[in-house]
Amino acid sequence: MKKFSRKVTLALTGASGAPYGLRLLQQFIAADVQVYLLLSDAAKIVLATEADVALPDELNAAQQFLSQRFGAAEQQIMLLERSDWFSAPASGSSSPKQMVICPCSMGTLSSIRHGASNNLIERAADVIMKERGQLIIAWRESPLSTIHLENMLGLSKMGVTLMPLAPGFYHKPQTLEEIIDFMVARILDHLNIEQSLVLPWMSDQDHNS
Ligand SMILES: Cc1cc2nc3c(=O)[nH]c(=O)nc-3n(C[C@H](O)[C@H](O)[C@H](O)COP(=O)(O)O)c2cc1C
Repeated sequence: MKKFSRKVTLALTGASGAPYGLRLLQQFIAADVQVYLLLSDAAKIVLATEADVALPDELNAAQQFLSQRFGAAEQQIMLLERSDWFSAPASGSSSPKQMVICPCSMGTLSSIRHGASNNLIERAADVIMKERGQLIIAWRESPLSTIHLENMLGLSKMGVTLMPLAPGFYHKPQTLEEIIDFMVARILDHLNIEQSLVLPWMSDQDHNS
């Protein structure tokens, strides 16, 4: 099997913001990253609603569908069942060291905060945290309730990076794609994956002038 530059776990849940998750997946594929992909049932509904992505029900067919859409190499996208406890992300000895949940629902965020591990997304996040890996949770919810805020504070204290899907406008985006790319670039920067979607602030200007 081809050797990839690194492995990352990517989860999409049923929060609004599916286009961010799809663009992130596309960028991982372009960067030669192998992706363990986890989709909640609600994520599939949101993918259809927001991005017109109608995934086949059968796992292998869905994996094939996504691989073709993003031009992924064989086994570069590993789509996993929600209760595949034998998969790599489910165990500390085999899990990737980095995981992104984008977009993350407040329900999944709460379950992770409390260590529920009721499905593979929650278990994979639990494993990353106990192994002291890197967990990035990108969320859209607004406004936030006290429950959401307390859960986020708890996760932040455990070393989780919480990124609101709140794009900046100082790069003067002209298209929806550029707005999406702002957040995707920020996530890639945090994972230390080289990206050319959005340059760092002021990097294209002469600081001495
Ligand atoms: C179109 C759509 C948009 C949604 N947006 C959000 C959202 O932004 N945040 C959120 O927490 N839940 C949102 N929900 C509700 C979640 O999908 C629901 O709470 C679900 O149980 C989450 O399950 P999951 O965490 O397993 O994906 C949305 C649902 C739909 C159908």
